Amino acid sequence: MNKIKDISSLSRELIDQLFQRTAQIKEQWPNLSLNKNKTVCLLFWEPSTRTKLSFEHAAKKLGFKVIDFSPEHSSIKKGESLQDTIRTLLALKVDGFVIRHPEDKIITKISEWLPEDVFLINAGDGNHAHPTQAMLDVYTMQEHYQDLKNMALTILGDSKHSRVIPSTITLLQKMGCNDVSFLGPKELIKNEFTPAYHQTNDGCLANKDILYILRIQRERFLKSESVNEDDFIADFQVNNEFLKKTGFAGKLMHPGPINVGMEIDESTAESEQSIILEQVENGLYVRTALLDLIA
Ligand code: CP
Repeated sequence: MNKIKDISSLSRELIDQLFQRTAQIKEQWPNLSLNKNKTVCLLFWEPSTRTKLSFEHAAKKLGFKVIDFSPEHSSIKKGESLQDTIRTLLALKVDGFVIRHPEDKIITKISEWLPEDVFLINAGDGNHAHPTQAMLDVYTMQEHYQDLKNMALTILGDSKHSRVIPSTITLLQKMGCNDVSFLGPKELIKNEFTPAYHQTNDGCLANKDILYILRIQRERFLKSESVNEDDFIADFQVNNEFLKKTGFAGKLMHPGPINVGMEIDESTAESEQSIILEQVENGLYVRTALLDLIA
């Protein structure tokens, strides 16, 4: 398996192997020294801080050469197609690709253009999938709650436009965790995401272990979609008052980027309950482990 398109196509064995390798890498960092002597191309059609830079850092740590492809400064600007761009990079002897693109499921199409020995990692395609975010999220959850089968998680905010959530839910199911609920305005939660709650009651999150917070992803809204931000802040912003009312005493997670003052306030994002920066750090180790296993 050297093409990571989504979580559903991965075996539980591969995930277990990945998490074991991640733990070793985390223990060895920063003294990890491998010489992969391969070349990886990072193709990001959308902005990224965490995913792109952690892949770059991971690849360099493993001894890869990294080619940073910027669509803005490439011949795509002169009309070259995506397929011809990939063909060109293959001719330049790239061994693998990490790709982020705004189109849903484009990664499946791209994987069909690649020879068998060229690896591919989906770094987020449209609002379809973001498998490595799911991997680092679930790895981080497992560090805190070893028994994922008994972990209760609530996803708060814009799960409708999130590419992370389908991947994370699928991975949690693979790990035996099925206690997942949704909280937020109706217009930000897909009908198939159940159980869903559209208001908070006293103590409603007291029995939950993880509150997984999402920003409003306006860049993926259709023209016909809207949400009232003032109402969202009043009803769902995670702050001291919200935590007191809902009784939530577990860990706060967020895939980032955070919109401080919208879905979470600054002091809560920086509080002891927040493990958001642990997610970012684990992202480096998980992505290093993944490149090590598949490249
Ligand atoms: N979570 C995530 O994908 O962050 P970036 O967009 O910064 O990579």
